[in-house]
Amino acid sequence: MESAEYHSALAALAWQIELGADECIADAPVDRYAVPASVPKTAKPAAKAEAAPAPGPQSAVDPVAIAQSAATAAQDLEGLRAALAAFDHCELKRGARNLVFSDGVPGARVMIVGEAPGRDEDMQGKPFVGRAGQLLDKMLAAINLSRDESVYITNVLPWRPPQNRDPKPEEVAMMQPFLYRHIELANPDVLVVVGNHSCQALLGKRGITRLRGDWTEARGKPALPMFHPAYLLRNPAAKREAWADLLSLQARLRDG
Ligand code: URA
Repeated sequence: MESAEYHSALAALAWQIELGADECIADAPVDRYAVPASVPKTAKPAAKAEAAPAPGPQSAVDPVAIAQSAATAAQDLEGLRAALAAFDHCELKRGARNLVFSDGVPGARVMIVGEAPGRDEDMQGKPFVGRAGQLLDKMLAAINLSRDESVYITNVLPWRPPQNRDPKPEEVAMMQPFLYRHIELANPDVLVVVGNHSCQALLGKRGITRLRGDWTEARGKPALPMFHPAYLLRNPAAKREAWADLLSLQARLRDG
């Protein structure tokens, strides 16, 4: 690169960083795992007579079944964390910096199930540490709960989806056995299910505006669907309903 080009490229980069850009993202998402549509010209063409390879053991892999047996084999939370860390069938893992397993007090009476890690969570390896997490902490503090003393937190997905896109159904299906086992091993008195994707994974339905505030059951535990704190950041008027739900949680813990 010519020296003038180099300096103007560097200046443009510095300008973008000053504007707040902190990630390199193309206009359109790139699927780096997609199978190429055509074989590159330099590759040796397959002989016409050669039959297509018979499906080998690779194509017989059922990631959900593998997840199920890995999760069932875990005897405690550390074992489950290790099983997740060793699970290589979810593509999200390849793009993530860290496994985001849990935070808070294992065995606490309240277990919160969020959706998926975002950028901050991915960097720190802990759920709900970004802006939504800070709001969650304030909400919990308002009813004298905290992740330091009385709450355990996890997510449906343990790895950040690229650009925080919505979880795909096949990703949720693959991670569900781990989530179910996580709930069994943590064994809380109640579940707080935040956001639509968590409701879909645990209650089999979505529509948080209708579901929130109504106690139901998930994995054999009383479960309270609530608005996701990220939604509350975008829609502060909904904090009124969230407050009613927090009071309902407090009453349940007091009476139960
Ligand atoms: N949103 C979630 O659902 N989970 C997190 O850990 C962070 C943001």
